[in-house]
Amino acid sequence: MTSTVEPPIDLRETARIAMARIGHTDIPIPKDRRRDIARPPGPSGTRLLRSFIFGDNAPWFMVDLERNYPTLAYFKLIGEHTYALNSPDAIVDVYIGHGRDTMKGRGLQGTKAVLGNGLLTSEGEVHLRNRRLVQPAFHRERIAGYATDMVDLTLAHETTWQDGQELDMQSDMSTLTLGIVGRTLFGADLSGDAHEIGDALAGLLLGMGRYLVLGPNALRVPVPARQRALASFARIDRIVDRVIEQHRAKGDTGDMLSMLIAAEEDDEPDRGGSADPPGRRGFDDAQVRDEAMTLILAGHETTAMTMTWTWMLLAQNPAAAEWLHEEVDTVLGGRAPTMEDMAALPRTRAIVAEAIRLYPPAWIQGRRLLTDVEVDGWTLPSGAITLISQFALHRSPRWWESSLTFMPQRWIDSSGAFSEEAPGQPRGAWFPFGWGNRRCIGEQFAWTEATMILATLAQRWRPELVPGSDISVVPAVTLRSRDGMPMVLRRR
Ligand code: HEM
Repeated sequence: MTSTVEPPIDLRETARIAMARIGHTDIPIPKDRRRDIARPPGPSGTRLLRSFIFGDNAPWFMVDLERNYPTLAYFKLIGEHTYALNSPDAIVDVYIGHGRDTMKGRGLQGTKAVLGNGLLTSEGEVHLRNRRLVQPAFHRERIAGYATDMVDLTLAHETTWQDGQELDMQSDMSTLTLGIVGRTLFGADLSGDAHEIGDALAGLLLGMGRYLVLGPNALRVPVPARQRALASFARIDRIVDRVIEQHRAKGDTGDMLSMLIAAEEDDEPDRGGSADPPGRRGFDDAQVRDEAMTLILAGHETTAMTMTWTWMLLAQNPAAAEWLHEEVDTVLGGRAPTMEDMAALPRTRAIVAEAIRLYPPAWIQGRRLLTDVEVDGWTLPSGAITLISQFALHRSPRWWESSLTFMPQRWIDSSGAFSEEAPGQPRGAWFPFGWGNRRCIGEQFAWTEATMILATLAQRWRPELVPGSDISVVPAVTLRSRDGMPMVLRRR
């Protein structure tokens, strides 16, 4: 927690920095200006704009498209030729088969204002280099080490829970997952910053989230949310800068941030004769900051939403909660879980899987094509935008039995083990962690974290929804609950 008085935030300077970050690109951005080709059918009109930008209907709009255009839907969105890919085959073909022939879409370009040019937002050679440098922090044996911290921090967090207490589970889980990412990857205690980061993130995601589709123009929209978002950028920037500074003072502690800083210190300026390809050179100051920011935000917001929706679904489905309790009680018998218990907790994992099926924290991904691609007999030109939506595909009755029902048992195979293949849906109908060369680097981290948190807390707690709460999804960058998740903690 900061004790010194910080200088006031200069919004004009913050806007300048944010716009410079948004404007940065590692590779030229192609435009689709083709007039000579046929485009597949799709929706048109102002409803599109309303859904995507001025309302919170975008996830439902993607569901509509998936139902009405089973393979491809074409539309123009803010001057961009856009194709929604609605069939598993088309998704696999473009995002895996042609993954390297794409770059991120407009929305992520907008998030550069805060994330800078880190692993999530960089492109081409720069992305490859970043991925190579960060990857060791996510090796299996590293994750096994993090599991102990995950459980310790969950047990410490549990001491703040009291029987009968009413809380907002969305912000409570954000505090917990922020603490976990801080300790495991950065050796930092971010618990004192949870409120500030949570508040700033809400300002960003809820305020500007819907404008991100405007890409580089997002921050030019003269809405009140812009001021709040800029103040939020500056506050989060300060926290991350402080974490890096404190870490430098501590020296190498063997964690993720030490690795990034070491990569920076190894960096040899390119004098033109370097034998290393660009992908091998280290980080500069700004890159350490961008990578740290990306991992802090991508690494805690998604798992916080996973846990939030999980608790809501358990409260709404008492039989599933019983099914879970039976497992954690039998396997753990009151002790804390460890990494070795993962395989013995198939129901716990199944509950998490079913929660991210219905409420995928990353609910849509866009890509801009860098070459022409053929899909279902149509040419999708270089420069066009493609969209895929987990929210739409994970809820599609075409691929899922009782698609809208919370049925965690579907993830248990005939041997009683958890299996992502158990539901038998085609590849491309289940992709909570994305696809191809840009697949989530934190996937195993996230499975481990969610399983450890749930197995720890569900042994003693059965949170209930506050009666009469109106829960609705809001498409921020992640899929959030609009007014938080009001719950009452109940001891089992
Ligand atoms: C349930 C939790 C999570 C979900 C649903 C999730 C989902 C995703 C998805 C869909 C992508 C691909 C984005 C795209 O293609 O544009 C992604 C990328 C990424 N995720 Fe996650 N994520 C989760 C947890 C985490 C965690 C725990 C971390 C780190 C500790 C993390 C770090 C990243 C990073 C750095 C990328 C960019 C990878 C790259 O482009 O090479 N994520 N995530």
